[in-house]
Amino acid sequence: MFSWQKHRDGRGRILLCFLLGLLWGTLTAQIRYSIPEELEKGSFVGNIAKDLGLELQELSQRGARIVSRGKKQHFALSVRSGSLVTADRIDREELCSQGAQCLLNFNVLIEDNLNIYSVEVEITDINDNAPRFRAEKLELKISETTAPGTQLILESAYDPDVGVNSLQGYELSPNHHFSLRVQSGADGIKYPELVLDRALDREKEPTLQIVLSGWDGGEPIRSGTAGILVTVLDGNDNAPVFTQPIYTVNVPENVPQGTTLLTVNATDADEGINSQVRYFLVKIPGKTSQIFQLNSVTGELLTLQNLDYEAAKFYMMEAEAQDGLGLWGRAKIHVTVVDMND
Ligand SMILES: *[C@@H]1O[C@H](CO)[C@@H](O)[C@H](O)[C@H]1NC(C)=O
Repeated sequence: MFSWQKHRDGRGRILLCFLLGLLWGTLTAQIRYSIPEELEKGSFVGNIAKDLGLELQELSQRGARIVSRGKKQHFALSVRSGSLVTADRIDREELCSQGAQCLLNFNVLIEDNLNIYSVEVEITDINDNAPRFRAEKLELKISETTAPGTQLILESAYDPDVGVNSLQGYELSPNHHFSLRVQSGADGIKYPELVLDRALDREKEPTLQIVLSGWDGGEPIRSGTAGILVTVLDGNDNAPVFTQPIYTVNVPENVPQGTTLLTVNATDADEGINSQVRYFLVKIPGKTSQIFQLNSVTGELLTLQNLDYEAAKFYMMEAEAQDGLGLWGRAKIHVTVVDMND
């Protein structure tokens, strides 16, 4: 047995392995070529006449032809140039998906002496695919009470190329709240993970838009992106705040009972039940509580009795606003009774 290897520049990198074997009593050789995928139809693969040890014209004279097992033929013999050429555009990913090696095998038959030569062509990867995310838009709902340091695993991007031409890493657009960590799964797939660095605040920024990109290491580098819309969910992190620290009113002593003297108002920056406010009077001496009433829903302060300047000229109360989940704010109410010379 003997063998040798031969190298040439460019796509004509040829690896010849001649094996001495017996097939119908003839010499059989294995010829090996390597070409990148996606070449134009008719591209040069190898100098087959020379590698078979034939003169150029012998190729047709002796009836050389390609025989393969019924599948689609990707190569052709060019009788004019004596070379093996591509018969169509070859997509490595379509033929071999993400297999580490993509090899196409066929035989060349020389009809006049029935010699058969096996030929193997390796299809090498080029960076013809960019990483892609299955969803180009992601929506995340994150509570504003989520603790910094919390991690969220996102879906990985997929690049059907192999080696450096496939996915190499991820990047996150600049933003004030999240950073990116890349984890490698047991299957070797790289997963992007969003890490909350700074707490969210729905009242300041109810939604955030960030862009996640995945890149490969090909030449040139290709990348794919996914837009992430973060909706910040409300937490009860805001207490009700009265629109004024003190509400004052001057009331003639002869107003009929049931009169609205003033309306207090507190607002809560949260949402939904977290922002629903109810009003109460606190810290009022027993007698005063029989004279005034604060409507818990509307904040209206009513008189329950007739006022009497001679009995009391001034009332001081405190109103409290409570939200649905226990946060509260307070304000003072000063009522001055004005003498009507009764
Ligand atoms: C309470 O104050 C807020 C903010 O000033 C205002 O938008 C709202 O209409 C007020 N509510 C009432 C009942 O006056």
